[in-house]
Amino acid sequence: MKAKLEEIRQRAEEELSKANAVETIEELRVKYAGKKGELTAILKQMGKLSPEERPVIGQFANEVRSYIENAVESKKAELAELKLQKQLQDEKIDVTLPSNTQPLGHKHPLSIVLDEIKEIFVGMGFEIVEGPEVEYDYYNFEALNIPKDHPARDTQDTFYITDNIVLRTQTSPVQVRVMEKKKPPIRIISPGRVFRSDAVDATHSPLFHQIEGLVVDKDITFADLKGTLETFIKRLYGDDSVVRFRPHHFPFTEPSAEVDVQCFSCKGKGCRVCKNEGWIEILGCGMVHPKVLENCGIDPEEYSGFALGLGLERVAMRRYGVDDMRLFYENDTRFLSQF
Ligand code: DAH
Repeated sequence: MKAKLEEIRQRAEEELSKANAVETIEELRVKYAGKKGELTAILKQMGKLSPEERPVIGQFANEVRSYIENAVESKKAELAELKLQKQLQDEKIDVTLPSNTQPLGHKHPLSIVLDEIKEIFVGMGFEIVEGPEVEYDYYNFEALNIPKDHPARDTQDTFYITDNIVLRTQTSPVQVRVMEKKKPPIRIISPGRVFRSDAVDATHSPLFHQIEGLVVDKDITFADLKGTLETFIKRLYGDDSVVRFRPHHFPFTEPSAEVDVQCFSCKGKGCRVCKNEGWIEILGCGMVHPKVLENCGIDPEEYSGFALGLGLERVAMRRYGVDDMRLFYENDTRFLSQF
């Protein structure tokens, strides 16, 4: 019987050493040391033994049982440890792997420059207003002192929607809309898209952006216009900028002027940037024509004002040394990511 027990122990040991799943080990435990297992079966035959043999075999059987039970436990622990190690290995995070970076968007160069211009004017007490891009002929031309047969219409190749409705060719109609609604004092700028039936090239586009400015109050003079514009240009281009006013003509202002800034590239000597002129045109401006004030129900005897209009693309092109405005609209990220 002792030999039988020893044989069971050895078999159990051998099978356990081969087992590599927790379920198999548990099955082996039941098979050998369970209530209906082989050990129990043997012990049931103890009655056949002599009284001297019984305690000896009983003790040996207990030793075999605890041997098997220990072996089962340590095999289980061994397997659990293996499983844990494998899991740790499989789930290891490689912190040196490069992450999936999400490219961050940022402002378009035209927006950067526009925001800067807005900030300068807001700092001088101007309000920002917007007007419609699809506009009545009346606001875009008529009320601005540009009647149907006026030659100024030819210079602004207009997209007509109907006889009376156009895509605005300038932001100046917003002046009229503001003056119709609001009593002076008025101090606004109005940025927005404008449209002209121009062929696309490095300096022309059927869609571009302007910023309109308008100030109306009692006793506004050309000196206010000059002071405001000089301040604006120095904030935009630096305190050492040199500004020049040149007489010009616009139907909706009298007198009118164009404003140039001395070329910051050559300091007035003449270079590629200023096309050898030494000066760069920045904007148009003037004192609001009394007829325009009248058209908007403002008494030109009581009030006066000045207006200005500038092209956003031109400012941005100069600021960043971009020589083809088409780059602003193509949305090529190789271009845009440089700002
Ligand atoms: N509207 C003009 C244009 O598109 C620009 C302009 C010039 C606007 C003089 C003004 C101004 O308000 O006073 O060419």
